[in-house]
Amino acid sequence: MTVQFTKASLQDQTVGHIAATLPGASAIFRNFKIDFCCGGDVTLDMAAKDLGLDVFVIEQALSALESDELPASTNLSSGELTEYIQSRFHDTHRREIPELILLARKVEAVHRDNPKVPAGVATLLKEMEGELEVHMKKEELILFPAMRWADTTLDAPISQMRYDHTDHGVYLQRLAELTDNFTLPEGACRSWQALYAGLAKLTEDLQDHIHLENNVLFPRFETV
Ligand SMILES: [Fe+2]
Ligand SMILES: [Fe+2]
Repeated sequence: MTVQFTKASLQDQTVGHIAATLPGASAIFRNFKIDFCCGGDVTLDMAAKDLGLDVFVIEQALSALESDELPASTNLSSGELTEYIQSRFHDTHRREIPELILLARKVEAVHRDNPKVPAGVATLLKEMEGELEVHMKKEELILFPAMRWADTTLDAPISQMRYDHTDHGVYLQRLAELTDNFTLPEGACRSWQALYAGLAKLTEDLQDHIHLENNVLFPRFETV
């Protein structure tokens, strides 16, 4: 999901709208102590002024969320590709999943009587976060360094990583089921909107991440 904003359009949009439509924006607003939920009807420009903040600094942080396109990955060396995967995907998952857990806990608690409440999403995300962390550590500490420096067959560890990726796909499937494919109910609050926008981005990121590893990086080191 690529969301394009210009500086001018961001300043003039309400923080509630930005939080609901730009995945990851809620975490940035939280860092700047900008109230995007109850006080979300003010423009970014006004919200920044009220807090004595420089709106351009906030815009810069928001712009960094706009996911860059996948690089022409087949042209990258394996060292460059593994570094790209770590910074673009591993770091992003680590930054965004904790925020999604907070949002999910909030939505589940505040709207527990709503029949559409995505009950269980926070627990599922927490479990997924743990599984992903173990998996990414194995790649960062063992597999990726081996790809950069070692001259050995990597079929066995790659096979394990592919197996893990299948499990990650099951998590994504369960997230989609629990949220009815991220379909918001009528009148959903901004936190609920931000949660589903963030979950949709997580899904897209993780799919791109697994695609790069399974279909571009791993085949370079497989003999079977
Ligand atoms: Fe990875
Ligand atoms: Fe992986």
